[in-house]
Amino acid sequence: MEEKVVIVTGSGKGIGRAIAERCAEHSMQVVVADVDENLAINTAKEIKEKYNVKTMAAKTDVSNEEQVFKMVQKVIDKFGDIYALVNNAGIIRLGKPFEEVENKEWDLIFNINFMGVVNCCKAVLPILKKNKRGRIVNMSSMSAYTGGMAVTPAYAASKAAIMSITRSIAKQVAPLKITVNSVAPGLIDTEGASICNYRPEQVPLNELGTPDNVADAVYFLLSEGARHITGTTIDVNGGIYMK
Ligand SMILES: NC(=O)c1ccc[n+]([C@@H]2O[C@H](COP(=O)([O-])OP(=O)(O)OC[C@H]3O[C@@H](n4cnc5c(N)ncnc54)[C@H](O)[C@@H]3O)[C@@H](O)[C@H]2O)c1
Repeated sequence: MEEKVVIVTGSGKGIGRAIAERCAEHSMQVVVADVDENLAINTAKEIKEKYNVKTMAAKTDVSNEEQVFKMVQKVIDKFGDIYALVNNAGIIRLGKPFEEVENKEWDLIFNINFMGVVNCCKAVLPILKKNKRGRIVNMSSMSAYTGGMAVTPAYAASKAAIMSITRSIAKQVAPLKITVNSVAPGLIDTEGASICNYRPEQVPLNELGTPDNVADAVYFLLSEGARHITGTTIDVNGGIYMK
């Protein structure tokens, strides 16, 4: 059986780690790319041991274009190919009145959440285009629709921008049989989101989402079953935002 290579950014912990595990469970070779080197190393090691697949730890700040291109080159040197990219890395910040959001916060959030996706897509797309196959899944958020419940407007806007470029890229590469989609989680119980104090009562299904719930949707988009789906968003929000 062919073992496909997937890069999952921000996969040292939280939702990204669950995605990396789900991919490994399905025999994919996983690149754990995270700005936190220890998290990347430990997660790659644990996944390798648990699922018996090849993994690679890559200390990468997705907002740094040079680091991203170097990471992708290292992946090619080690595995020879890339099938899929999951742009999961992102930072969450609490909300405050709009006029009090400093420009340095807009820059920080957009550089990581949005330009991180841009940088990784720029680095990986030439490989997928050459192969005339491949998948990209971008991590958006329910806040892209709602403007955010607890998070800063900059966060919500960065996630809306991700939905938009998902469609732009999907259109460009559809003739090459490459699909590009996004996933929009609602209130997911992770360390990163702990500052938001989410409560199950906020969710119609009366439970917080788990990283595994999001990983299921992402893996579906990477799987053969999703081959005719591109340029869209899967919502994983327990019914908070229905459309
Ligand atoms: N948790 C939620 O409720 C929720 C809801 C909607 C969307 N999301 C999105 O899901 C993604 C994962 O969120 P999470 O809750 O698991 O967060 P988390 O903070 O628990 O984990 C994020 C991971 O990304 C890494 N990371 C941070 N900045 C990075 C950078 N510049 N380069 C590379 N790696 C970086 C961190 O080291 C960490 O391992 C984010 O994009 C987030 O915006 C989360």
